[in-house]
Amino acid sequence: MCTPIPGMTTTTSTTSTATAHNTPPNTPRPMPRIGDKAPDFTANTTHGELRFRDFQGDKWTLLFSHPADFTPVCSTELCELAKRSKEFESRNFKLLGVSVDSIHSHLAWVENLAQILDTRLPYPLVADTDKKVSELYGMIHPGESSTVTVRTLFFVDPKNTIRAIIYYPLNVGRNVDEILRVADALQTADTNAVACPVNWKKGDKVIVPPPKTEKEVAARKALTNVDRLDFYLVKKSL
Ligand code: BEZ
Repeated sequence: MCTPIPGMTTTTSTTSTATAHNTPPNTPRPMPRIGDKAPDFTANTTHGELRFRDFQGDKWTLLFSHPADFTPVCSTELCELAKRSKEFESRNFKLLGVSVDSIHSHLAWVENLAQILDTRLPYPLVADTDKKVSELYGMIHPGESSTVTVRTLFFVDPKNTIRAIIYYPLNVGRNVDEILRVADALQTADTNAVACPVNWKKGDKVIVPPPKTEKEVAARKALTNVDRLDFYLVKKSL
């Protein structure tokens, strides 16, 4: 379930290329938040029609939006994601882009990027002309632009839960190292039941989650081979 945010709702309608599943028509829709199930949809993409849930399969997915095709910052971002797509693949992540441009625009831009930046996008782009996906995910922030999507990133885990969301404005390109760092941190935290401290990167020490009971405090005191800064702040190597 999505959590309603006061003043921040999106709407759904029946007639569209992309179809939101399990949502009654014309109902106000809350913005998805961390911990919500990722809303499902069917959409027209540069790789053909796809249903988000089927596209995901049992993998992590990075669902991201860009403001517009044939724009400079977006061109650099989407090509960098393409160049580093193997790094996402090795982390079991699939990539799926979204903008409100048409499929014809997407196809022409993909060809143009291959020519001018020598980069072919290996991932699909959703042609969200009716804004169905954008609205479903709250990708349009009217204070920034009422017509195009801002630069959003949704990290969706294999159980279809949204695990992290990052928004950037139109005039600031994203940092792919940071996106990969978040992917690593989420997966490391899951696998080892730990948390990742400030500026953490793969290989750094992690945080042992703070104790919640006196018994856990006692167990914490018995831990060896850890950096114990206080009872609640303990780091360890993996
Ligand atoms: C860009 O990608 O360069 C861009 C897109 C929309 C607004 C401003 C810049």
